[in-house]
Amino acid sequence: MAKLSARRTRLSSGIRELTREARPAREQFIQPLFSVQGLQSREAVPGLNGVHRDTSDSLLRQIEADLKAGISKFILFLVPTEKSTQTFATDYAATEIAAIRKHFGNEIWLATDVCLCSATTHGHCGVLNEAGDYIDNEFSVRALAGIASAYASAGADCVAPSDMMDGRVGSIREQLSATGNDRTLIMSYSAKFHSGFYGPFRLAAESAPSEHGILHDRASYQIDPARPSDAAISSQRDSDEGADILMVKPGMPYLDVLAELSRQIPKPWAVFQTSGETAALELVAANNLGDRARMTVETWTAFVRAGAQMIISYDARRAHEWL
Ligand code: PBG
Ligand code: ZN
Repeated sequence: MAKLSARRTRLSSGIRELTREARPAREQFIQPLFSVQGLQSREAVPGLNGVHRDTSDSLLRQIEADLKAGISKFILFLVPTEKSTQTFATDYAATEIAAIRKHFGNEIWLATDVCLCSATTHGHCGVLNEAGDYIDNEFSVRALAGIASAYASAGADCVAPSDMMDGRVGSIREQLSATGNDRTLIMSYSAKFHSGFYGPFRLAAESAPSEHGILHDRASYQIDPARPSDAAISSQRDSDEGADILMVKPGMPYLDVLAELSRQIPKPWAVFQTSGETAALELVAANNLGDRARMTVETWTAFVRAGAQMIISYDARRAHEWL
């Protein structure tokens, strides 16, 4: 019996590189951006090193710098000043998207998050009924479809509904078609869980659900962490309704879901490494308890191993240094 078996393929960097099965690559990354209406100057987002709430001007400069560094794929979160309960203006968002498109042409690939939570007075992802104890699904879906088609008409390559209402992908696809936006991709947050890992984002996007109302969290529309079959049902539904890209979110705590669903449903899969996951890595490193780059690349390797084609990460910029 030879003394070595598995270790033979671990002994040199040469053979380790040759035997790798999962290789996260720079080209797979999507960088989140925040555009905040009426902001005087850009603000750092707590917990997310290098991520900002941008003004119209600072956002263009940020994208310019990113392009120079080789980062060309983005997901944009639009944060309006005016909050409302029923009707949602899209003029600020549309102007922003059009300005970005005009400035950068097809050098960038631009997805836009579609939701109501940055625009509602109560921070929920949909419109409340009169009693304030239920999100009106139909009313919300109509609003979302209007918003998505406005973003597409303004120049977004992709619209990404993150609200978790039933039937929104089908309605958005229909509305896109009716407005001449057949080429616009839909990336559905199809397996989005009711997670505690969204903290920094809600500050950045002004979207924390109000704790004063009857509905104090998003449990009645986001997927329960203990219900992987709900994620499977919702993802299949969104795929059938016309989503081009499906998504698991958060990433690290839901690798099992990503691995299983990406094998079950043969569509492109994205994973969203959320703000809370990123902040957790940041804090471990800040306390000298781990190496930030090494830990993060390890998590990305896990995403690719589990079947993700694309990775939405607040560290996409750093992927260009670290990989
Ligand atoms: C809101 C939305 C959230 C994220 C993207 N869109 C959070 C939430 O549901 O409150 C998560 C982003 C993150 O934490 O990085 N529809
Ligand atoms: Zn939302």
